[in-house]
Amino acid sequence: MAWKTLDDMDLSGKVVLCRVDINVPVKDGHVSDDTRIRRIVPTVRDIVAAGGKPVLLAHFGRPKGERVPEMSLSIVRPALEAALGLPVLFAEDCIGAPAKHAVAALEPGQVLLLENTRYHDEETRNDPMFAASLAALGDVYCNDAFSAAHRAHGSTEGIARLLPSCAGRLMQAELSALEAALGAPARPVVAVVGGAKVSTKLDLLGNLVSKVDHLVIGGGMANTFLAAQGVGVGTSLAEHDMADTARAILAKADEEGCEVILPRDIVVAREFAAHAPHETVATEACPADAMILDAGPDTVAYIRTVIENAQTLIMNGPLGVFEMEPFQTGTFAMLDVVAEQTGAGRLTSVAGGGDTVAAINASGHGDDFTYISTAGGAFLEWMEGKTLPGVAALED
Ligand code: 3PG
Ligand code: MG
Repeated sequence: MAWKTLDDMDLSGKVVLCRVDINVPVKDGHVSDDTRIRRIVPTVRDIVAAGGKPVLLAHFGRPKGERVPEMSLSIVRPALEAALGLPVLFAEDCIGAPAKHAVAALEPGQVLLLENTRYHDEETRNDPMFAASLAALGDVYCNDAFSAAHRAHGSTEGIARLLPSCAGRLMQAELSALEAALGAPARPVVAVVGGAKVSTKLDLLGNLVSKVDHLVIGGGMANTFLAAQGVGVGTSLAEHDMADTARAILAKADEEGCEVILPRDIVVAREFAAHAPHETVATEACPADAMILDAGPDTVAYIRTVIENAQTLIMNGPLGVFEMEPFQTGTFAMLDVVAEQTGAGRLTSVAGGGDTVAAINASGHGDDFTYISTAGGAFLEWMEGKTLPGVAALED
């Protein structure tokens, strides 16, 4: 698969329609986490440096074709201007007269942000006329929104078919990190997958067991696997109706030579609450009236040896309920090992997903991975082995 990058395009004097993902969290009318905004800065600056005029296309929330004021991208404009260090103008619609006039008035060194593309439901329907209206505004299309690339929308897919197109810097970085982690990784490869439910990560687990050498399963999902093997999990969150599926995944892993690593010891409590009285017991010894909230130290010690021997690690999901003290302990201890091995140059580590990145940041290891993706759903779909429409549309 090959994509053009900004380096392959003649941008001088051109209007560059740049799809970005600035779908950031907002609290009290202000951006509360500007990570996604900061990550698009190199692309916008490079367009300006090459003499191009960046016009940013983006969605914000899910307004479903209505002009919902709380989902206006004007809310994000000040944070964007601060991150870019360039004047950011704003147009009240992403197509039609307001957009056309704003583009015509744009001067070199300025950036134009167009209003939420999802104010038009033609965006999510990938309506060809809508994509054509977007394309008519510019000369070149640059997609820098990997985290929205799992959506086949007008501004992510349709438009790429209508203009000379390329990947932005963040898109390039995401694709090369993911290629290094699962495409052609250095082995052994270990995947860490956690989260509440097996049912939402079936495709993921199915794909991973055929790609990785060790699969660590944590969180509520691990309970489902333990229960499927006849281990009592007390009052733990578990999907007992997924037992057959869990056993089928274990059988497939066995066939493929993938070692599945489940908790060897567990931290249990009677109450789902921070600081609930808790104890560490062997996995087979979960009391009937208790629930599993974290992986224990023996489990982490074993995971340490696996990570020390691995060359590549990909992570989506924590080991335990990291949001509640002290049930972050297992996850954080594992992250210490990832950070140590990555820092020593012995491990390529890649992580993605909202909860996962929150856990990594909370552990203080936000800068210690080889690469942290800005994507949630797109990262997951990519790990599932699916084709992302926004990426496919960029292919030559
Ligand atoms: C995200 O925040 O995950 C992306 O911006 C995609 O948003 P969506 O799930 O509403 O398509
Ligand atoms: Mg999402």
